[in-house]
Amino acid sequence: MGSQPDLADSFIALHGDLGAGKTTFVRHLLHALGVRGRIKSPTYAVVEPHATPSGLAVHHFDFYRFSDPREWEDAGFRDIFAGPGLKLAEWPEKAAGRIPLEDLAIKIEAMSDETRTVILQAGTPRGARLLREALA
Ligand SMILES: Nc1ncnc2c1ncn2[C@@H]1O[C@H](COP(=O)(O)OP(=O)(O)O)[C@@H](O)[C@H]1O
Ligand SMILES: [Mg+2]
Repeated sequence: MGSQPDLADSFIALHGDLGAGKTTFVRHLLHALGVRGRIKSPTYAVVEPHATPSGLAVHHFDFYRFSDPREWEDAGFRDIFAGPGLKLAEWPEKAAGRIPLEDLAIKIEAMSDETRTVILQAGTPRGARLLREALA
């Protein structure tokens, strides 16, 4: 994290079909940030909270089953997105109109030969800095 201060409070959205590899990517990212143990998919709970050893809060969302707009307020999602920490979201399009603009969009596509094509797209100046740092 020390080398990537922009990551700490950013919102990264993961786009791609079922099975594209969104959850797998999040698991690898969380492991790289030092999160240990089993990383559950938030498919049923919508959000799984994590913390890195250095104290960074990470919220991993999966909005695939998100349908009740009241849940956005009632479950505290608005507060999580407004607060500090790293937010990662699968199926952000299912929360369109509520979810904020993503700093970074990661679009994953599974190809017929089992390889993945990944497109990274910055949505904010913070996201553009993240991309520059990642590619430096
Ligand atoms: N980069 C990858 N290369 C090959 N297989 C992958 C890759 N990413 C994920 N998979 C496999 O694809 C399947 C679905 O992955 P998952 O991360 O659950 O997808 P999603 O969250 O996008 O629905 C899993 O069996 C996983 O092991
Ligand atoms: Mg998933």
